[in-house]
Parts: sequence; C-alpha cells; structure tokens
Amino acid sequence: MLRPLLATTLLLAASTAQQFEPATPAFVFLQQPPLGLPKMPTADGYVPTVGMFELGKQLFFDGVLSRDRSVSCASCHPATTGFAHPDKLPPGIDGKRAARHAPALWNRGYAPVQRWDGRSPTLEAFVLEPIADANEMGHTVQAAIERLNAESPWREQFTTTFGTKATPEALQRALATFVRGIVAGDAPYDRFLKGDPTAMTALQRHGQWIFESKGGCWKCHTPPLFTDESFHNTGIGVVAGKAEPARAHVTNDADDTGKWKTPTLRGLRLTAPFMHDGSLSTLSDVVAFYARGGNANEHLDTRVQPLDLSAEDQRALVAFLLSL
Ligand code: HEC
Ligand code: HEC
Repeated sequence: MLRPLLATTLLLAASTAQQFEPATPAFVFLQQPPLGLPKMPTADGYVPTVGMFELGKQLFFDGVLSRDRSVSCASCHPATTGFAHPDKLPPGIDGKRAARHAPALWNRGYAPVQRWDGRSPTLEAFVLEPIADANEMGHTVQAAIERLNAESPWREQFTTTFGTKATPEALQRALATFVRGIVAGDAPYDRFLKGDPTAMTALQRHGQWIFESKGGCWKCHTPPLFTDESFHNTGIGVVAGKAEPARAHVTNDADDTGKWKTPTLRGLRLTAPFMHDGSLSTLSDVVAFYARGGNANEHLDTRVQPLDLSAEDQRALVAFLLSL
C-alpha cells in the first residue's frame, strides 16, 4: 500500500512544486491573506461579508449585467486563464472588441487605482464601468439594476445580503468584494522566502538574482505584489517613435505620455498574452523586449535600457517569473 501512495505523492509534488498554482478565489483571503501577501484593504471602512462575496461571484459569472445577456465579467476574465483573456483584445457585445487587453485580476484589491491608465479611482467605482461600456456589456447601470430587481431570485439575494433591493451601491460592493477575493500568493517564491530551500530551482534563483541586480526589474515590479502600482513608459504600443497619450490622457501632463500601469507579475504562467495591448505573446518575448531596451520614444523611462543578458540569463528570468 505504501509504495503506490508514495509514488502518487511524489508525482503530485513534482507537478505542483516550483511553479505557481492558482488558489480558487475565496472570502477567507479578505481576512487571512495567502503566504507572502499583505492584509487586503477594504474601501471606506465597509465590512465585507460572505454573502457579498457569494453574490458578487454569481454576478461575475452570469450574463445578467449585459444588454443581451451574452457577456459576463468572466467572458473577458475567465478563471482558467488567471482572469485575463487569451486574445489580445477580448470580445464584448455585438461582436465588438474591448479597447485594451483584459489584464489578470490577481491582487487587484490592493491597487489604489484601476485600469491600464489608472483612470478609475477605486475598485468600487470601476466595477460598474464595464456594464455601460458600448464595446463590453453595452447596457446601462440603471437598466441592469432594474432587471436585477425584476427577477425575484436576484432581488431576494440582494435583500438578504444588503437589506435592500438591488442598488448601484450594493452592486458595486458585491462585485468589488468578489474581486478582492481573487488573490495570487503562496507561490514557490513565497515558500522559498519563508525558508523552504527546495521551493525554487537553481535556474529560478539565478533568474531572481538578475531580476534584483542587472535586470533592474524590481524597481517597478516591486515585491511582494511585483508592481509599484505606478505608471511608466516602456515603449509598448509605440508606432514610428510616437507613444499613445496613456496616463497623460488622465493627468493632462505631457510627461505622462505612453505611461501605463505596472502590472503585477504574479500568476503569469496562465495569463498570456502580455502588455496593455496584448502585443507580446510569451514571457520569452517579454524578456527579449527588455533585454533590447524597450521601444525608443521621446518619453521612454530611463530605467528601461539595453541589458547585458545571455541566453541563459533570459531563460532564468522566465523561469523566475513562473515561480511567482
Ligand atoms: C468585454 C470584455 C470585458 C468585460 C465584459 C469586463 N472586463 Fe474587466 N477589463 C477588460 C479590459 C479590456 C480591461 C482593461 C481596461 C482598461 O485598462 O482601460 C479590464 C479591466 C478590469 C479591471 C482592472 C484591472 C487593473 O489591473 O487595472 C478589473 C478589476 C476588472 N476589469 C473587473 C471586471 C468586472 C468585475 C467585470 C464585470 C462587471 C468586468 N471586468 C467585465 C475587459 C472586460
Ligand atoms: C520602468 C519600470 C519597469 C521596469 C524597469 C520593468 N518593467 Fe515590466 N512592466 C512595466 C510596465 C509599465 C508594464 C506594462 C507596459 C504596457 O502594457 O504597455 C510592464 C509589463 C511587464 C510584463 C507584462 C505583464 C502582463 O501581465 O502583461 C512583464 C512580464 C514584465 N513587465 C516583466 C519585467 C521584467 C522581467 C523586467 C526586468 C527585465 C521588467 N519588467 C522591468 C514597468 C517596468
């Protein structure tokens, strides 16, 4: 009996160790973050409840919020691909496409502002915006609320959870509470830091060293979330030396031209393609992009410069990214 059991255990260990394995989103993470992550903040002092999380989860996976019920949050943020979409630009209502790549939703509850250009000030403010986006859910918040109240199972759930029928505020709370439960931690990297020397391979540790030394990646992708939640110009999307307005569209400051929000590097194993326009298909492409110094343009960040990385160094960096 012992032998087959041992063999199975070893097999499991070999397939799960040294690579990030996603945890199912759960309410418990709002109170007890996974290894390596800080405590999840909540907005303006509200107390999240399991009921809000469960209602938010149902709404996230249901088409009810879109005009013709064909699009849910999950259509663009499928759980199986780390809540990012495998297309460069994800499909929305009426065969349209969203304007930007749908990012992974890991640890977005920690982010002070939402979207690639940061134009949505809070998670609560943001979660209603896809509903009214003509390329995404093609509805209005008002009409979505009316529909939820016209359908008794939804109306009853809102009443049980919030003590009122559906309102924009209650809908915001439910969706935002669910998104706060989508976390990525307890990865090989975190276990290694905690003191398990076998959690990362030698190649991954070499990659970590490059990340923290000559790669300079940590300057913007700062642990433990591997983002500084700030905005930088790396040259992605530059055409003929010209960058899009990006963050400058929000701040009206020309210095912010071509600056996009630093995405988290956690859970990357599942979330290709990469960048705000989905233009890089693999992590090797991303590392090669940085190795050559990004894309030249007038506003390129001074921290993005050609790097002296051998083929082995580049493979090591990719291996390290898979440990996050
Ligand atoms: C049609 C596709 C589509 C649908 C439907 C959609 N999203 Fe998104 N989501 C995106 C895209 C594209 C972005 C990036 C938008 C931007 O940066 O301007 C995004 C961004 C986000 C972000 C911000 C992440 C960050 O790092 O800034 C969150 C949170 C999010 N979506 C949650 C949701 C929720 C909740 C719903 C359902 C109410 C939803 N999305 C519906 C495509 C979609
Ligand atoms: C100056 C700040 C800065 C530095 C330094 C930096 N990055 Fe980034 N990184 C960004 C920004 C900003 C983006 C998003 C760019 C965009 O979408 O246009 C990004 C995107 C990425 C992505 C794509 C993630 C996703 O989900 O789309 C990966 C992977 C990545 N960086 C890895 C690295 C590595 C590895 C290094 C070091 C070699 C590095 N970065 C150095 C700011 C930086």
